[in-house]
Amino acid sequence: MDRTAAWAALGPHADRLKAASLRELFAADGGRFDDFSASLDDLTADFSKEKLDRPALDALLALARACGVEARRDAMAAGEAVNLTEGRPALHMALRGSVAPDVPGVADVAATRERFLAFAEAVRSGAYAAAAGPFTDVVNIGIGGSDLGPAMAARALAPYADGPRAHFVSNVDGAHFADVARGLDPRRTLVIVASKTFTTLETMMNARTARAWLAEAVGDAAGAQMAAVSTNIAGCAAFGIEPERVFGFWDWVGGRYSLWGAIGLPVAIAVGATRFREMLDGAAAMDRHFLSAPLAENLPVLLALVGVWRRDAMGWPTVALIPYDQRLDRFPAYVQQLDMESNGKRVTRGGAPVAQATGPVIWGEPGTNAQHSFFQLLHQGTDVIPTDFILAAAAPAGGEHHVALAANCLAQSAALAFGLTEAEVRAEMAGRDPAEIDRLAPHRTFPGDRPSTTILQRRLDPFALGRLIALFEHKVFVQAALWDVNPFDQWGVELGKAMAKRLTPAVESGDGSGFDASTAGLVARLAALRGGA
Ligand code: F6P
Repeated sequence: MDRTAAWAALGPHADRLKAASLRELFAADGGRFDDFSASLDDLTADFSKEKLDRPALDALLALARACGVEARRDAMAAGEAVNLTEGRPALHMALRGSVAPDVPGVADVAATRERFLAFAEAVRSGAYAAAAGPFTDVVNIGIGGSDLGPAMAARALAPYADGPRAHFVSNVDGAHFADVARGLDPRRTLVIVASKTFTTLETMMNARTARAWLAEAVGDAAGAQMAAVSTNIAGCAAFGIEPERVFGFWDWVGGRYSLWGAIGLPVAIAVGATRFREMLDGAAAMDRHFLSAPLAENLPVLLALVGVWRRDAMGWPTVALIPYDQRLDRFPAYVQQLDMESNGKRVTRGGAPVAQATGPVIWGEPGTNAQHSFFQLLHQGTDVIPTDFILAAAAPAGGEHHVALAANCLAQSAALAFGLTEAEVRAEMAGRDPAEIDRLAPHRTFPGDRPSTTILQRRLDPFALGRLIALFEHKVFVQAALWDVNPFDQWGVELGKAMAKRLTPAVESGDGSGFDASTAGLVARLAALRGGA
């Protein structure tokens, strides 16, 4: 079967399942949990609460075969130039040792890793220190992939952090650096400038501000309190960062896939080289699974198929990502970049308009907080919003808190799936005034039939975090293969950057002539308000 036929074959299954409720699917098959879940060691993905049945899943697996998912995966691992528009491979798996050492370009990965981990250990031990003493704090200056990964991981691994405190500044809004710097001692703070290109406007502006902040306190010694992570070694030198504190990586690592190398430096400083390596080991375990498990048991493949089922067969445009783990509070933001910058694409690898709707809108907040903000809409709004739950069986702050957390997570997925019928609502209110029951019943009825997938693992330790991130990376890759888009470029961010450059003198001068009427009007209004202030 070819790709077009395999996509078309989903249609009848979707029609059948749109008409079937999750209540009915569960009533018809008591073994759904076993049939529609898959595991790798202690990690289980339960997608039994998705609106799928066996024939539909078989059709999705046929789609994966028709789209050559395995061949695409193997091409990536073999170092082929899968990033077609930029003519380079995507070898982030090499950063965790999952790519054969003879693949061109990866030979110096291990040595580079040892170098930045040795620096992390030197900062931790005080062997590399500021003149005023060992570093107490590290400020990472970066944005996008040079921020979201390490910021998310440092937060997730907070229970393992026993080194200098890690802080993150990304926004060009001066408030970000100012708020982070407030309360830090510039004489004991290490600043890492993290930028693949070392040209990103936000990062370079914040880096200059940080350098001035250090210099005000320590004068010429400021340079010794700065390090850089970049593929642009010449750019780092021009900025004045000594080569021994510049940690390189390679153009074959996409920004949003770069946490595993020196971009992870602030995490390594916070938790230490041993924990950092455990995170890499977790990712490598998922790589091995992705590279070898049959499609029908392959977690990233299955989650990707669930994703395209939701997006294309069912037509649901967004996904709520809800970690029931406070320390994963930056995980939705991280996955937003990973997924939406990778698969927010409108043309195929060959440049033709893509035939299906591609990347969904990803959004979310940790549970249980989310229950008290937007879950009302998930339960009773007019749109179906499929939800991904993430839960650990054990947590450092365990006890009754964790039992309550877990119970709430399972409760939400069950409530979304099965709802509460009007008859059940009426039965609950039995004995009350019949007019009152009539009035309230529609409001208190839950339609249910709202799908979710739950990812459950033992605990959120460095190994499990690495495994979880790699699961999402590979899921995004498989979806790109199904849609036939290139997940490794991001041309869509360029226009705004160029426009901002053009607009800078207009905003400075207050003269927006030459721009469209709306922009010119806003420039004038901005200038008037600034003048007034
Ligand atoms: O916003 C686009 C982008 O290129 C991202 O892909 C990237 O992660 C981010 O900017 C930061 O880029 P750099 O690491 O080169 O500063």
